[in-house]
Amino acid sequence: MIEQFQVQGAKDKYIVYNKVLGKGAYGVVLLAKAANLGSYHAAKIISKKSLSQTDIFNLRNEINIQSKLAHPNVVAMVDAFEDNEYLYMLLEYCNGGCLFTNIQLSGPLREEKAQQYFVQILKAVQYLHSKNILHRDIKLSNLLLTSQDQVKLADFTWSTSLQGGCVGPQICGTLEYMPPEVLGNKVQNEKLDIWSLGIVLYEMLHNDFPKLGQLFFKFGISEECKSLIKQMLEKEPYRRPTTSEIQMSPWIKRYHRYKELSINIIKSSNNLQDQKGLNSMSFVAGSPLGSPLRSGLGTPQINTLGSPQKNKLGATLGYSFNNGFESPLGSPMQSPMNSPLTNVGKRVATEPTRISAQKLV
Ligand code: ADE
Repeated sequence: MIEQFQVQGAKDKYIVYNKVLGKGAYGVVLLAKAANLGSYHAAKIISKKSLSQTDIFNLRNEINIQSKLAHPNVVAMVDAFEDNEYLYMLLEYCNGGCLFTNIQLSGPLREEKAQQYFVQILKAVQYLHSKNILHRDIKLSNLLLTSQDQVKLADFTWSTSLQGGCVGPQICGTLEYMPPEVLGNKVQNEKLDIWSLGIVLYEMLHNDFPKLGQLFFKFGISEECKSLIKQMLEKEPYRRPTTSEIQMSPWIKRYHRYKELSINIIKSSNNLQDQKGLNSMSFVAGSPLGSPLRSGLGTPQINTLGSPQKNKLGATLGYSFNNGFESPLGSPMQSPMNSPLTNVGKRVATEPTRISAQKLV
C-alpha cells in the first residue's frame, strides 16, 4: 500500500502519494491526484524552513512565470499554494520520465528521432522567447516525455523576463549547458538558450557533451544537422541563430517536408483503400521518417541489453523485466519512447546526475 496524504489546494484537494518523481534543488516532486477531477499531477513540494531570501525570490519568480505559460510543449502549472510548512506547485504529469534518463538507459537517438524531439523543444523555446522569457536551464533532465511521446520543457527556477532585450550578468543554470557569456559573467539575452539547445541536440545524438573547440560528430550525422549544431554553439551570441532562423534552417525544413510527405502518403493510401472498399486501418504506409511502428530510439545499443553496466559516473544500471512502462500507481501502460528495449524490459537506473551539474546561485 503506497503511503499518501492530502492537501487542500486553491483549485482542488490533492492526494499526494509517497512516490518520488524527481528531486530538485529545493525539494522533492511527488505523484499527486486531484481528488475531484481525478487527474494525476506532479507535486513539487518545497520546505519553507530552509529557504533563503534568494530561494524565496526564485520560487516566486518561477510560480509567477509558469502561471503565465500555456503551450503544448511546456509543462503546465495547474495549481500553486502553501501551508505553514511547505510550498506546493501542482504540475502537469509527464509519465515518460526525462530525456536524460531515457537516453542514459537506451543510448543515443537516431537523427530522425532527435529531429522529432528537437522540433518540439524548439517550439517551446520559440514560445518563451516570443513572450520575452528566457528559460536559462534547458537540459535533458528538464525535458520530460508524455505517454504520447510528446516533449515538454519543465523547471522554470532560473527563468527570467527580458527587459530591453537583455538581462544583467548572473551565473545560473547548469554548468555543462552554460554559454561563454554566462560563464564569463557578461550581459545575457535569448541567445543563451540557443547555446543550451545546441548542447541538447548534440547530447541527444551522442549521449555525451560536445568537446568544444574540436567538435566531433559520430558517423552518419547529416551535414545540415552538423551545421545547425555548430551555429548554435557559436562563441559569440550574435552569431547564433534565433529560434525563427532555426525554424528556417535546412535541417528543420527537411523534417517538415518529410512529415508533410508522409502525411500525404498515408492519406492517399487510405483513400486508395477506401476506394477499393478495404479497411483503411489495416494499411499503414511507411513514412520517410521510418515506419510508424518502428523503434523511437534509433539503433538498438547492443551493450545496453546485456549485463548491468556502469553509467559515466560509475553508478550501476540494473534491469527489471516487466512489460514496459507503468501507470502512476502500478498498472501497465504504453511506453513513450516506443522502443524495442522498453518493450523487452524496463531498465531501472540510479538517479540521473552529472558530477558538475549543480546550480550556482
Ligand atoms: N518530475 C519533475 N516534474 C515532473 C512532471 N511534471 N511530471 C513527471 N515527473 C516530473
